[in-house]
Amino acid sequence: MIYLTRRVEFSAAHTLYNPDMSPEENEQCFGKCGNPKGHGHNYVLEITVKGEIDKKTGFFINVDTLKQIIRAEVVDVLDHRFINVEIDYFKKNVPTCENMAMWVWSRLESKLENCSLHRVRLYETRNNYVEYYGDAGEEIR
Ligand code: NI
Repeated sequence: MIYLTRRVEFSAAHTLYNPDMSPEENEQCFGKCGNPKGHGHNYVLEITVKGEIDKKTGFFINVDTLKQIIRAEVVDVLDHRFINVEIDYFKKNVPTCENMAMWVWSRLESKLENCSLHRVRLYETRNNYVEYYGDAGEEIR
């Protein structure tokens, strides 16, 4: 088994606000990150896939193919969007880095051929990132 990682960047706005909680609860839980007007991040996403090398080509997935899948399924969907407002899943689920990483996994998982997803790593800031290995067992639709 060998692992390949592709890194992409996108910019998006979000707010950490749960409409099912009262404004006071939100304030207490999320503080300034819960400003309903939103704030932006320059996200960095690293997608790691794993597979067995094809003897003929020397790789298991063409990097350009992987790049196109990530672009179509994630970057084109999130880039320059207000995530809470424009992405259906995040109208009901708080767009934390954690939930976003799981959502990314669900978008990519079924699109890969000859390899499988190993890790989704999403940086919200230079110093904070989340990693997801597909083991939460939750259905994201
Ligand atoms: Ni934020």
